Amino acid sequence: MEVVIAPAEELAGVAAQAVAGLLRSMPDAVLGLATGSSPLKVYDELVRLHEQEGLSFARARAFMLDEYVGLPAEHPQRYRNVIQTELVGRVDFAADAVRGPDGLADDITAACAEYEAAIAEAGGVDLQILGIGTDGHVAFNEPGSSLASRTRIKTLTAQTRQDNARFFDDDVDAVPRHVLTQGLATIMSARHLVLVATGRQKAEAVHQLVEGPVSAMWPGTVLQHHPHVTVLVDDAAASRLQLADYYRETYASKPGWQGL
Ligand code: GLP
Repeated sequence: MEVVIAPAEELAGVAAQAVAGLLRSMPDAVLGLATGSSPLKVYDELVRLHEQEGLSFARARAFMLDEYVGLPAEHPQRYRNVIQTELVGRVDFAADAVRGPDGLADDITAACAEYEAAIAEAGGVDLQILGIGTDGHVAFNEPGSSLASRTRIKTLTAQTRQDNARFFDDDVDAVPRHVLTQGLATIMSARHLVLVATGRQKAEAVHQLVEGPVSAMWPGTVLQHHPHVTVLVDDAAASRLQLADYYRETYASKPGWQGL
């Protein structure tokens, strides 16, 4: 696990360069897209690279991490619509190149199995962008999630619904109770995980993620078992890291050839 501590704008550049480098060497790469506020600057930077430096997504495909159950197709907070607004509609993805779990499916179990099969058929995710919740959830894998879980329905915790109420006019009752989410094992199947976290409210989750014992109580800790994880954090999110000085020194003295 590599930890990079830098200002938020710089982190976005580091993450976007990882995506851009992948797309330049492998134009048909499979990307994993996250919603939430953490990746927004990364998406802005990818749009800039697309507009100013010709970065193309035309042959790429992408899979989303999660989706609310039951939000109407046109609802602006439906994650499929959010990602369309934040990234997909601003670059040159081919039609139907981006998929997400179907939160409006009649048969939720079958839809989750189909989603897993689609990811596998695409050859798996090459680079997965991730955020982390204040309670340590990744995608919508809340505390107590099986570390071996696959795409399935989950119930949000009160904390997550409270955290996400800001996207629903601060009305916690408007936040759906149920979601579909890639499982922790699904996420672990991606070849490179790039997690972005900023702000003091993420400091404990980041500390547990990087330095805590692996536990379903802090679902992100399963990433400690992944061979290629990049954790991008600003000073505030890094403020509880015991080895912060070591991570800073390591990144500052990193050989240029190594990449992310
Ligand atoms: C949301 C999303 C996650 C996201 C997390 C943090 O509920 N399902 O994918 O990483 O919570 O969100 P934010 O980046 O807005 O803090």
